[in-house]
Amino acid sequence: MGNKLQSQVAIVTGACSGIGAGVANALATDGAIVVINYPSDHTHDAADAVLNEIKSAGGRGMIYQCDVSKEDQVQAMFAETVKQFGTVDILINNAGLQDDSPFTEMTLAQWNHVIGVNLTGQFLCAREAIREFLRRGMQPEKSVALGKIICMSSVHEVIPWAGHANYAASKGGIKLLMQTLAQEFAPKKIRINSIGPGAIKTPINKSAWDTPEAEVKLLTLIPYGRVGITDDIGKAAVWLASDDSDYVNGTTLFVDGGMTLFPGFSTNG
Ligand code: BGC
Repeated sequence: MGNKLQSQVAIVTGACSGIGAGVANALATDGAIVVINYPSDHTHDAADAVLNEIKSAGGRGMIYQCDVSKEDQVQAMFAETVKQFGTVDILINNAGLQDDSPFTEMTLAQWNHVIGVNLTGQFLCAREAIREFLRRGMQPEKSVALGKIICMSSVHEVIPWAGHANYAASKGGIKLLMQTLAQEFAPKKIRINSIGPGAIKTPINKSAWDTPEAEVKLLTLIPYGRVGITDDIGKAAVWLASDDSDYVNGTTLFVDGGMTLFPGFSTNG
């Protein structure tokens, strides 16, 4: 175990599976107390499993159910975290989903669902986190920053994605939400950055990697020649949340094996 985040309280939204679970684990391994947010009864056991793994490695945390697209639920989650652990030091704005459809068949419900969780959820959680950072004030024994927010974006904040208009729009929105908040709150010593994962092996994109044929096709988009794993994102999140990255603010760190390098141009154009 490291100690880069010792005793810092981190809320990780959507932490019951995939990238969120990997990030929760990585933060706990570096000493953070982790609030494992999960969305529904359905995912309670999965959240419990993430917490148990953290605890059996000597870490601390709690699970908390809430729909990040609902203002009252988000406010209750932050209030409970402050009650249990005193404050919030780090927000990992991770909760996100896909609800894909050819554009002409996309329903308003599909659009609202994805924008609600992926974008409005990040707005609501960031607002509560910043309110708490400002209320609590500096804690020099924990960090040189007043607070840190990491928005989980995607390579699709820059790569258009046919058949996924709601998802790509949500990630494009996260890009300027993150940069605007970083600009607004840098003078207060709050650091806000994004991670832009490429293809990471998680349930959200299982069909893209779970057969050898699918994986070969996917690898044509990844110059570095392997599909990512959640640990790749966990390590980046620890760095971005720690004082090691103190001069990094308003940036998207792409963790994508080069997916954003226009690999189609390596032999054409
Ligand atoms: C999506 C995945 C996709 C990856 C690369 C992510 O943001 O959620 O489904 O595999 O981008 O295209």
